[in-house]
Amino acid sequence: MGAARIVAFAGSARKDSFNKKLIRLAARAAEAAGAQVTLLDLRDYPMPLYDGDLEAAEGIPEPARRFKQALIDHDGFLISSPEYNSSISPALKNAIDWASRPAPAEAYQGKAAGLMAASPGALGGLRGLVHVRSILGNIGVLVIPDQIAISRAPDAFAPDGSLKDAAQQAAVEKVARNLTALVEKLKK
Ligand SMILES: Cc1cc2nc3c(=O)[nH]c(=O)nc-3n(C[C@H](O)[C@H](O)[C@H](O)COP(=O)(O)O)c2cc1C
Repeated sequence: MGAARIVAFAGSARKDSFNKKLIRLAARAAEAAGAQVTLLDLRDYPMPLYDGDLEAAEGIPEPARRFKQALIDHDGFLISSPEYNSSISPALKNAIDWASRPAPAEAYQGKAAGLMAASPGALGGLRGLVHVRSILGNIGVLVIPDQIAISRAPDAFAPDGSLKDAAQQAAVEKVARNLTALVEKLKK
């Protein structure tokens, strides 16, 4: 059966992204729970905005193909998504869209996901996660109920990258642990 294979990434390419900080913690927690984790950075997958004419003329662009292959190669996804105007970040939506071509089943069907968000705002990106959950559910991903949104993100992280608040740190670990457990069950 082997370990649960989980790919972890933030829906932000920004160098100092709070969501990248958060996903690093979740990735470590999933490893501690026994998963085999691959941490991706969307900065390494510079995809154009989805364009049907471009797809028809040239196929799926190489960075999008690599991203899609990474999803195919794993059983579960840990995603930390920024919230833009109360919804999913454009970088994350675009990556999800390209990887759903030509049909979502290949990359998404039968997979599981755990979600989190971080934001300087008071709600921590919680409203965006409603949309991320809905989008993934509609393309065949089983999204676990546990999630965490880190508000006031500029003050939330200690210099070593951990979360200052023990309850928040525990919540991140719970998302990672429960996703790992579900993926293991789905693999049986
Ligand atoms: C166009 C735009 C819209 C945004 N809308 C929201 C929002 O609705 N809610 C929120 O909490 N933060 C919002 N923000 C602030 C982001 O949460 C903030 O830029 C955050 O640092 C982005 O995530 P990152 O640090 O992982 O790159 C917005 C930022 C941008 C650029």
